[in-house]
Amino acid sequence: MKLPTSYLAPGMILARPVYGQRGVLLLNRGVSLTSFDISALRRHGVLAVYVEGPLSEEELREARAVMEEEVRVHTMNVVRSWAENGRRRANFASIVDQVKSVVDEILAGRMPTNALSEISAADSYTFAHSVDVCVLSVAAGVRLGYKRDDLLKLGVGALLHDLGKSRVPPEILNKPGKLTPAEFAEMKKHPVWGYKMLREDMDGWVDSVSAAIVLNHHERYDGSGYPRGLKGKEIHLTAAVCAAADMYNAITTDRVYRPALPPHEAYEMLMGAGGSALDFRAVQAFLPCVDPYPAGMLIRLSTGEIAVVLSSDPAMPFRPKVMLVATGEIVDLQKELAVVITGLLPPAEARAMAAGMRPARAAV
Ligand SMILES: [Fe+2]
Ligand SMILES: [Fe+2]
Repeated sequence: MKLPTSYLAPGMILARPVYGQRGVLLLNRGVSLTSFDISALRRHGVLAVYVEGPLSEEELREARAVMEEEVRVHTMNVVRSWAENGRRRANFASIVDQVKSVVDEILAGRMPTNALSEISAADSYTFAHSVDVCVLSVAAGVRLGYKRDDLLKLGVGALLHDLGKSRVPPEILNKPGKLTPAEFAEMKKHPVWGYKMLREDMDGWVDSVSAAIVLNHHERYDGSGYPRGLKGKEIHLTAAVCAAADMYNAITTDRVYRPALPPHEAYEMLMGAGGSALDFRAVQAFLPCVDPYPAGMLIRLSTGEIAVVLSSDPAMPFRPKVMLVATGEIVDLQKELAVVITGLLPPAEARAMAAGMRPARAAV
C-alpha cells in the first residue's frame, strides 16, 4: 500500500523501489525501513512510498491502477529539465510525447480510470504533483467524452499548470508555516507567470486551451478564485477539471505545513465543492476517477473490526468489498448494509499493525 511518509515507522518493508527527485534510486524494494531511512526520505523530498501491507502486490494488482514508477520518474524529469533549461521548443516535443503516452495508456484501459486514487499521494511536490494532476485530469476528460486531441490539450495544460511556481521564491514556496498576506500575494501570481511563460516565450506552439488552463486553474466557479475572479461558465471546463484534480491531489498529499488528508475526506470535500467552488460537471467527471477508500487501506468497521479494503464499485464507492484482518473473512459492504466504515485506522495503529507483521517477514 502507498503511505504518506508521515505514516511510516521503522520496520515497515518497502514494496517498491524509491527514487529521489532526480530519478536516483534511494532505497530498493524489500528494505526494512530504519528511522534513519525515514528521515533521509523526508530530506530527499519523498512524500509517499509503497510499503508491504496485509495484501500482497499480487492481490492488489487487479484492484488498482499502477503507473509504472519509471514512467512517473521519467515524466517528472522531462518536465523538470524543460522548465529549468530555458523551455526550448525542441524539448517541448518531449512534454507532448509524455502526455500522449498518458492519454494512450488511459484510452487503452491500461490505467483504469476508476482507480486512480493511488497516485494521489505524490512522491515529491510540484513535479510529481504535476504528473498526478495531468493523469487525473485526462482520466476525468475521458469521462467527459473528450476526443484524443482535446485530451492532449487538457493533459499538456494540467502537466504545466504550476509552471509559474518556478518564479516564486523557494522560501515562500516551501515555507512550513502560514504565508503572510504579502507572501500569499506573491504565490498567487504563479498562474499569470506560467501563462506568460507559455504565451510570450513560446507563442504559437502551445495551444491556447492548454495556456488557458495554466492561467485559470485557481479560478473558482463561485467567483472566489484568482487571478481574475472569473465565474461559472466564464471558466472553461478543461480548467475546472484541472482545478478539481489539483485540489484533490493537494489535499491528499503531505505538505511542509500540514499532513495529508485521507482520501475519503478529500472525496467528501470535493463533493461539497461541486456547484460552489467547482463546476459540478467537473466534479462529476472527476470523482469516479478516485476511490474514497483505495484498495489496501486499513479501515475500522462499526462492528469494531479492522479490515483491509479489497475493491470498490465506482457507483457505490463508500461500500467497498473488505477483508477482516483477524479472520480473513470477506465482507461485501454493498450487501452487509448494517455495517458501516467508521474511519481509517489512525496512523499510530496502522504503524503498530505493520510492525506486528515484521517478524514473519524478517524471518524469511
Ligand atoms: Fe497552482
Ligand atoms: Fe497545483
